Amino acid sequence: MTAVVSNAKMDPLPGPGSPAMMLRIQSLEARYGESIVLRDVNLEVPDGKLVSLMGRNGVGKTTTLKSIMGILPQSAGEITFAGKSWRREPPEARARAGMGYVPQGRDIFPNMTVGENLQLCVTIYGAKARERMPFVLDLFPVLKEMLRRKGGVLSGGQQQQLAIGRALLTCPKLLILDEPTEGIQPSIIDLIEDALLRLKREMGISILLVEQYLDFVAAVSDYVYIMDRGTIIAEGKASILADPAITKHLSV
Ligand SMILES: Nc1ncnc2c1ncn2[C@@H]1O[C@H](COP(=O)(O)OP(=O)(O)O)[C@@H](O)[C@H]1O
Ligand SMILES: [Mg+2]
Repeated sequence: MTAVVSNAKMDPLPGPGSPAMMLRIQSLEARYGESIVLRDVNLEVPDGKLVSLMGRNGVGKTTTLKSIMGILPQSAGEITFAGKSWRREPPEARARAGMGYVPQGRDIFPNMTVGENLQLCVTIYGAKARERMPFVLDLFPVLKEMLRRKGGVLSGGQQQQLAIGRALLTCPKLLILDEPTEGIQPSIIDLIEDALLRLKREMGISILLVEQYLDFVAAVSDYVYIMDRGTIIAEGKASILADPAITKHLSV
């Protein structure tokens, strides 16, 4: 397949005046057993930017995020995060270094209350998580109302807010979200959209968003990558999402 690459690329690196990179993935390969799922994946998230990775079901988006988090070992390639190369470090080490991961399907603890779910982060991350708590409760006020409710009784959208809130308590440099709008009602999608824009604006957090909902991606992204069959086949500013040559790789 020929790669469709938009002219609207980010500034080439390195060079004076170009943005510093929070995350850089070069020639990433990942396998499940013998089968190669990712090949030659190249992707960058500049400091303070929101970058989206789109693609149909099964193309390798979640696998890319698992490789970045060290949940799945990369079989080849280079992951550079916050100026350091990451190869064998476990997920906990990456989280401590500033990767905040919200997995697909948002695995909160259903039998713990909202408050306990959040408090767990304070136990692990200490004072900086405690200091971040008011911001998280202000960002997602419903969590404040639901502090004593069990996580499992929340709606999908409320659980998503809890999952994002928990990741934010770790004070991430890079927030990594896997399909946060999946199965969530439109009013809460708007709320999550506003929250992501606020995180970027007020906290300067870099965000890597895996998402299939095109309008949402178009509204929040500084830059977009399109994946098909385990590799990046197109990239550019969010305006490429108006191009039928690009969106044909997204429609089912
Ligand atoms: N644990 C696993 N073991 C074997 N194959 C897997 C596993 N998880 C995903 N795959 C396969 O890897 C490919 C990419 O999956 P995934 O990264 O989850 O795609 P996406 O997130 O884009 O929907 C798919 O073909 C899927 O069937
Ligand atoms: Mg997935």
